[in-house]
Amino acid sequence: MQDSTTKNIKEDFFLIGPLGFEESFQNEIAKLQPWILGSDSRPTSHGIDIVKVRKGGLELKAPKLEGFQLVHHLKTPVRILWRWKSKKLSHVAELKSYIRSLRSTEIYEGPLKVIVSSRQSRLNNEKMIERVFEEEWKFIDDNADQALYVDVYNDQFTLSWDLCGDPLYKRSWAPEKGQAPIRENLAHLLLQDLTVDFTGPELAQMTLLDPMMGSGTFLAEALAWNRPNLERKFSYQNLKGLPSLLKIHWWTNLSLPQVGLFESYVGFDIDPEMILKAQKNLSFFKIGNVCLKKQNILHEPTLKLNQDQTLMICNPPYGERLAVDSIEKLIGAALQYHKPLKALFVWPEGRFFEFPGYESKKIRSFSQGGIPVQVVVFSRFG
Ligand SMILES: C[S@@+](CC[C@H](N)C(=O)[O-])C[C@H]1O[C@@H](n2cnc3c(N)ncnc32)[C@H](O)[C@@H]1O
Repeated sequence: MQDSTTKNIKEDFFLIGPLGFEESFQNEIAKLQPWILGSDSRPTSHGIDIVKVRKGGLELKAPKLEGFQLVHHLKTPVRILWRWKSKKLSHVAELKSYIRSLRSTEIYEGPLKVIVSSRQSRLNNEKMIERVFEEEWKFIDDNADQALYVDVYNDQFTLSWDLCGDPLYKRSWAPEKGQAPIRENLAHLLLQDLTVDFTGPELAQMTLLDPMMGSGTFLAEALAWNRPNLERKFSYQNLKGLPSLLKIHWWTNLSLPQVGLFESYVGFDIDPEMILKAQKNLSFFKIGNVCLKKQNILHEPTLKLNQDQTLMICNPPYGERLAVDSIEKLIGAALQYHKPLKALFVWPEGRFFEFPGYESKKIRSFSQGGIPVQVVVFSRFG
C-alpha cells in the first residue's frame, strides 16, 4: 500500500514500440494527460514526463499509480516496462551474488521468465546470464506468464518488470483475423498519420473508408480511438504492492466519450467471409455509423460517398501471401471511384505509383509481417 510520503515519487518506465514512430508515441502521451487519474480518482497533477527518446522507445518518469495506468490507455506501443533495479556488473561472480541478494518475491510471487538482451558489455553471453538466473532463483520458468526484462548495456544491468503480459497490440476487442492483418498498434499509428492535418471537429463529420478491409482492423482502431482497454488482463495486475486505486475498477470514475474518431465507417471486401469477420469485430463498439459491404473495388461501387468528407486507408494485398493482379490497379480504382480528400496506403518497399488528380508523398517505411513496406499518402488536388 502506498502512503502519502511515497505515492508521488516518480519511477522509471520504458515504452517499447515499432522503430521510426517515436514522435507518435510522444504525441499520444501528450494527449493522454487529462485521462490519467491520481489517488483521489481525479485527473492527476503529477504528470508523465518524457525523459528520453530512444530508437523504438521512450524513457518516462511517473508515479507508480499514473505509470501503471498507461497500459490501459496507450494504443501505439507494444509493451511497457517498469524499471526495478540497475547496477554495473562485469564478472559472473558479481552477477551471481547480486541476483542472490535480490528479493523478486517482494514484487511478484510465482514462476517468472527472464528475457535478457546484452550489448557492449563484458558479460555479453545472454544464455549464460539466463543460466545464472535459473541457478540462483529456483522459480525461473520459460513458460511463465510474468516476465522480468534484463537489459545489459555498457556493463549496466537494468532489471524491469513487464506490465503487459500479452503485447499491447492484442486488444480485448476484434478477435477475428483475416489473412495478413495489420497489427493494431500500427493501424493506430497510421490513422494518426492520415488524420494529422485535420481538427477533431472536422474528423467528427467525416467518413473513414477502407476499400479492402479484411477483418476491419483500421475501422476497429478508429472506433476504439477514445476507448481505453479495460476488458483484457494485464500482467501488472498480478504484482504486489499495487496502488490502492488500481485494485478496484478505477475506470468507473472515467466517463468515456461514446465516440470514435469519425462520424461514419465504411468497409468493403471482395470476400464475404471477411465481411462476417469484420461485422463480428465491429459490433463490439456499438457506436458510429458502420456500413460493411461485399464489393470488388475494381467494379463500379454500389455505395457513393461524399468525396469531400471521405478519408481512405488501406493495406491492399501485396501478392506475397494474398494473390493479386496488380496493387496499382486496385489502388487506382479505389481512388478513381471514391476520390477521397486524402488516402493512405501501405505497400511493399521499392515500388512507386502515381495517380491522376493526386499528389503523393512517401512518409515512412517499416516491416509488416516480415515484409519491408512503405506508407504513401495521397492528397487530392483541389
Ligand atoms: C491485406 S488484406 C487487408 C487486411 C486488413 N488491413 C486487416 O487488418 O485485416 C487485403 C484484403 O483485400 C481484399 N481484396 C483483395 N482484392 C480485392 C478487391 N478486388 N476488392 C475488394 N477487396 C479485395 C482481400 O479479400 C483481403 O481481405
